[in-house]
Amino acid sequence: MLDSYGRKIEYLRLSITDLCNLRCKYCMGEDGVCKKDHRHILTIEELTLIAQVFHQKGVKKLRVTGGEPLVRKGFDILARNLEEIGFDTLAITTNGVLLPKYADTLRESGFSRVNVSLDSLDKDVYRDVTRGGNLEDALRGIDTALKAGFDKVKVNAVLMKGVNDDSIYDFALFGAEKGVDVRFIELMPFEASYSYAKDKFISCDILTSKHNLTLVGTDGNCRTYAFPDGLKIGFIAPKSHKFCSQCNRVRVTADGKMLNCLHENKEYDLTNYLCDEDALSRRIDEVVKEKPLCHAMYETDAQTRPMGNIGG
Ligand code: 5AD
Ligand code: SF4
Repeated sequence: MLDSYGRKIEYLRLSITDLCNLRCKYCMGEDGVCKKDHRHILTIEELTLIAQVFHQKGVKKLRVTGGEPLVRKGFDILARNLEEIGFDTLAITTNGVLLPKYADTLRESGFSRVNVSLDSLDKDVYRDVTRGGNLEDALRGIDTALKAGFDKVKVNAVLMKGVNDDSIYDFALFGAEKGVDVRFIELMPFEASYSYAKDKFISCDILTSKHNLTLVGTDGNCRTYAFPDGLKIGFIAPKSHKFCSQCNRVRVTADGKMLNCLHENKEYDLTNYLCDEDALSRRIDEVVKEKPLCHAMYETDAQTRPMGNIGG
């Protein structure tokens, strides 16, 4: 599938629930997401159908996201359905809390990549940012994933000024000890947490120069840097280093809306096309043709959907 700028769309991020067992400050307001009526959330069969049609259209990689995907009822059935479709890569982004329960299901269903969100190595800061989460749970999740033998386990931390920007070396050390890649992601603005994002945003570039880091590699949208002693840390910088020109992804939300870009307030309803595969396929083609060349994050209105509602 090509968009109108010739970018090959090969990566679908499928959000399977907007619910979460944490309440990260940069992701949602204090009250969490307002629980959608069940009838508006795609069923396991509908999610499977959407994945199938994207696969037929050339999508090779599927990442399951949320909210927190592992809180979705019927996750194990969905995981097996996704395996049958035959994607080259099945991946998941999770906060890790439920990994001890689900790591085997993921492995048995052919998931090869797990990204775990972990914003602090300090239990008090972690509890504060997640509004009540327990650091031990996330660490146990990471350890379980490592033992389960996935091809890649990565740790994602959202970079926040005054919260974790002084701990990038500690994270690099943690990554080296555990054998995981750690990547800091620049804080992105969403309406539900806009003032928090504005307040806590700090550019990756400030840290790379402050710590004298050397760029040692680029992998997709992640730039890997080395500290003077050789320890490595990744940065994903959608604001400071836009990667729109290589963007190969689209998203579908748990309520069946397709998004071409995380930072565009445009969504395309797919739910009216779910009873006819051909119509769905044509609709997806039409939507992909509308994919914007580049985002204008922090320049235009914030995305009104919270991240936990789109999928990380
Ligand atoms: N900015 C950057 N990353 C975010 N995530 C959630 N909200 C934001 C935001 N405002 C990340 C989470 C997780 C994934 C689901 O998306 O940390 O890694
Ligand atoms: Fe949940 Fe992830 Fe949002 Fe945190 S960032 S509240 S773990 S969906």
